[in-house]
Amino acid sequence: MFRKFTLSALAALAMTVGAAHAASEEGHVEDVDFSFEGPFGAFDQMQLQRGLQVYTEVCAACHGLRYVPIRTLADEGGPHLPEDQVRAYAAQNFETFDPELDDFRAATPSDHFPASNDANAPDLSLMAKARAGFHGPYGLGINQFVNGIGGPEYIVSLLAGYTGETKEEAGTTFYGNTAFPGGWIAMPPPLVGDDVTYADGHEADVHHEAEDLAAFLMWAAEPHMMARKHAGFVAVLFLTLLAVLLYLTNKRLWAPHKRRNHEA
Ligand code: HEC
Repeated sequence: MFRKFTLSALAALAMTVGAAHAASEEGHVEDVDFSFEGPFGAFDQMQLQRGLQVYTEVCAACHGLRYVPIRTLADEGGPHLPEDQVRAYAAQNFETFDPELDDFRAATPSDHFPASNDANAPDLSLMAKARAGFHGPYGLGINQFVNGIGGPEYIVSLLAGYTGETKEEAGTTFYGNTAFPGGWIAMPPPLVGDDVTYADGHEADVHHEAEDLAAFLMWAAEPHMMARKHAGFVAVLFLTLLAVLLYLTNKRLWAPHKRRNHEA
């Protein structure tokens, strides 16, 4: 008995040390309360529109979003822009190579966002799901259920995590960053505050811009999150009802036999 206890205590200790070790290699990620967290969370349409603006005016210079069709900007539950605005947005901001014309033309809503301009800058379409934050895959399952895996939090922490230090290595400049694993990233600080002017007059300091952008990237990576949560809720409700009915049926079916046993 005691031996068993010692063994499990040792195993628990080893796991804790292992997790702490892994955590020290990862960067620091802060928690952010997003509107889409929790079982009933939903995207904030205005925030997605602001995030789209930050992406277009700042990040699109280097990063692509090539898995996202431009027309989805009009989707309900997403940025939900009017269709004529989506058409104007595509035409004004992006060009696509059209093999039929053998030339570039203005993008239309049926095109996707372009790919990255900078070969070293990763595509951002799935970034919010590709990166995990504080409670990441090592956290408690229930925590992830309520708060998500922390990808958008990681993006906010990354954009707001520049220390201001730089170093040169093999001809490349690296920037000190508290969220990036390893502490040095090749991306120059993209946000300095007031990089965009929001139409809705929302504050545009680094943290607000980063949160808006992270929410937009979460939508880009999982545009149907609200539909999924809704379906999940209906399924749980249905299963609860089914469980109650099965319990009552079971009671009823066995009732005559149980009574006979008591009499015997
Ligand atoms: C000047 C070009 C440039 C701009 C502008 C830029 N980035 Fe980057 N970004 C990069 C490069 C290069 C990397 C790869 C850095 C590395 O791996 O060290 C990168 C990496 C990233 C990563 C991945 C970090 C990781 O965990 O691997 C994210 C997320 C990101 N950028 C978000 C953004 C956002 C959001 C914006 C706009 C606010 C932006 N970037 C603007 C060049 C840029």
